[in-house]
Amino acid sequence: MRQILVTSALPYANGPIHLGHLVEYIQTDIWVRAMKAQGHQVTYVCADDAHGTAIMLKAEANGITPEEQIANVKASHEADFSQFLIDFDNYHTTHSEENREFSELIYRRLNSEGHISTKDVEQLFDPEKSLFLADRFVKGECPECGAEDQYGDNCEVCGTTYNATELKNPHSTLSGATPILKTSKHYFFNLPEFSEFLQKWTHDEGRLQPSVANKLQEWFDAGLASWDISRDAPYFGFQIPDTPADEPDKYFYVWLDAPVGYMASFKNLCKQRKGSTDPLKPELNFDDYWLEENQHKTELYHFIGKDIVYFHALFWPAMLAGSEFRTPTSIFAHGFLMVNGEKMSKSRGTFIQAETFAKHLHPEYLRYYFATKLSDKVEDINLDFADFMQKVNSDMVGKVVNIASRSAGFIVKKYDGMLSETCAEPELLNDILRTGEEIANAYENREFSRAMRLIMQCADKANEYIDSKKPWAMAKEEGTEQDVQEVCSVAINIFRQLMVYLAPVLPELTDNAKAFLNLDDLSFASRHELLLGHKINKFKPLMQRIEQSQIDALIEESKQDLAAAATTGTVKADAKNNQKKLDNKKADTADTIEFDDFMKVEMTVAHVVECNYVEGADKLLQFTLDIGKEQTINVFSGIRKFYEPEQLTGKKVICVTNLVPRKMKFGVSEGMILSSGDPKTGLVVVTVPDECQVGDKLA
Ligand code: MSP
Ligand code: ZN
Repeated sequence: MRQILVTSALPYANGPIHLGHLVEYIQTDIWVRAMKAQGHQVTYVCADDAHGTAIMLKAEANGITPEEQIANVKASHEADFSQFLIDFDNYHTTHSEENREFSELIYRRLNSEGHISTKDVEQLFDPEKSLFLADRFVKGECPECGAEDQYGDNCEVCGTTYNATELKNPHSTLSGATPILKTSKHYFFNLPEFSEFLQKWTHDEGRLQPSVANKLQEWFDAGLASWDISRDAPYFGFQIPDTPADEPDKYFYVWLDAPVGYMASFKNLCKQRKGSTDPLKPELNFDDYWLEENQHKTELYHFIGKDIVYFHALFWPAMLAGSEFRTPTSIFAHGFLMVNGEKMSKSRGTFIQAETFAKHLHPEYLRYYFATKLSDKVEDINLDFADFMQKVNSDMVGKVVNIASRSAGFIVKKYDGMLSETCAEPELLNDILRTGEEIANAYENREFSRAMRLIMQCADKANEYIDSKKPWAMAKEEGTEQDVQEVCSVAINIFRQLMVYLAPVLPELTDNAKAFLNLDDLSFASRHELLLGHKINKFKPLMQRIEQSQIDALIEESKQDLAAAATTGTVKADAKNNQKKLDNKKADTADTIEFDDFMKVEMTVAHVVECNYVEGADKLLQFTLDIGKEQTINVFSGIRKFYEPEQLTGKKVICVTNLVPRKMKFGVSEGMILSSGDPKTGLVVVTVPDECQVGDKLA
């Protein structure tokens, strides 16, 4: 029996799971289920990637500790994964004792072999936040073309890449302060020492997809560089052990301990399984899967997105090889998700969270659709909603489920659920059974789209067969009783084969089909015995058609998720966190308001009819707002520093419209316009999509 350990990349603990992520988790889950159905011992582990500056800052913004932040997000990630039927054997976190242990162990072994060195690094430092600034937290003018408001790594206008230290007039996006240059000691992993090993490793047969190996060759040709694996405090992560006592603490860069999280999650599972007698949850031996000497005893596969190949195909195998651990058998990279042919877009409502999708559409629709799109290539995959609806409705409902629904009735009503004793079409069934071998191969090779095509061809054959025999007509004739039973039994037997073939993709539907077929096993091995003289149960519809209105509602709600994110500064899955935060703060009543207080606030969609400077007031802009029902109001807003009037004229904004009017030096202000950010360093006015009607209240 093959023993296989499989991982998906660990999602960051700073935001919700979205459809892009799901490409990966669905791909991996289908593969794992298909391999389990073949009788292999497969273990699938994952975890939240819980460290790093982004998570630390997110927690700060939410007013909670990093530990609370990662616990909240982990709970919401797990809920999302379970809705999409992603069946991990273990879901852990990188902020765990197991992970600390292995990260330290690997580091110490690398260090003692001389693979770690130190070097002073000069970096931008935010003097207000006392924080070294990663590139994405610095903005300034492009040193090449002078474009304003560019990030610290490359210019979006002219495309030049540079060091953050080269930006003109830089500012910290965290505090607005002008960063200063500061030097500190950094720890490096000497990757070039593994150059030869990696060149060979990446070219091993079956290790990487050809396009990935080619990409890596470009990096080898350019020469590998040492990898900076340390970060200065404050940082949310693990402290680097054995640093000199008289020097400031250093932390492992999040990408050092993230892949170690695969090991840690597995180790944690080994502990849970200790002494287990459940054959579905067997005891696992850590060393079998991770020690160098067991490299060929077990298999290890990492599923990842194309954006993180560098970490998985260079740093990670080098870290493992340098610390007496085994390296992955293969790395399987996939492309990125496009929606309706474009990158996911928040404003178009195509940046869709897993939770939002599941509210409107059954997760198995997405599993099936992704399966029809996925291959062993690193190509981007496109979710086209028209195609999505058509495929699910015509393949799943129209072809597959239909086979059962048009034949089960006769069997149950006329023959008390009993299938015929002999198979009337052994050739046809043999053909379908043989195709099963090809389908199993396609799954194993991650050619899911090919597997789905083969399955649909089988479904077509079944439907053609039923159409040619017309059991509904036979049922009305005299003397063809037995024929009806035989024809419908052939159809049900083909349907059963299709359920075996689709089980990795549609675990819930096929589970329901088990009840209908009166079977408790749909594994690949179980299918060779035909269902003859076997009793089936009453058929219940297994899948509903998708209606356009469901898709419309999904997109609409995804746009609202964005509006909600803009007002609260958090994404919707964080609603749970916010609830938690509220709960935590209950005692602290000064910070909370009653629900009724909130309900009193009237927020109205308003159209900016006019926006003007206010003479003598360098902080204010004056607005004339249309708030519906032919009413206009006058509002002063302190955002002059961040906007020119023409940027806001014509926009739709949200205005609190039931405030007591305030008399100001320049006139009366009759409302407040919602914006987010810090009034000192940067405010963004919340604008709403055009579909929002002027005068509508926010609910
Ligand atoms: N935390 C790192 C992974 C560490 S693994 C040791 C990370 N996290 S992530 O949340 O950004 O992404 C998790 C996985 O989802 C990655 O493999 C990434 O490629 C994948 N995807 C994230 N967005 C995606 C799309 N829009 N489309 C397809 N896959 C995407 O990277
Ligand atoms: Zn530029």
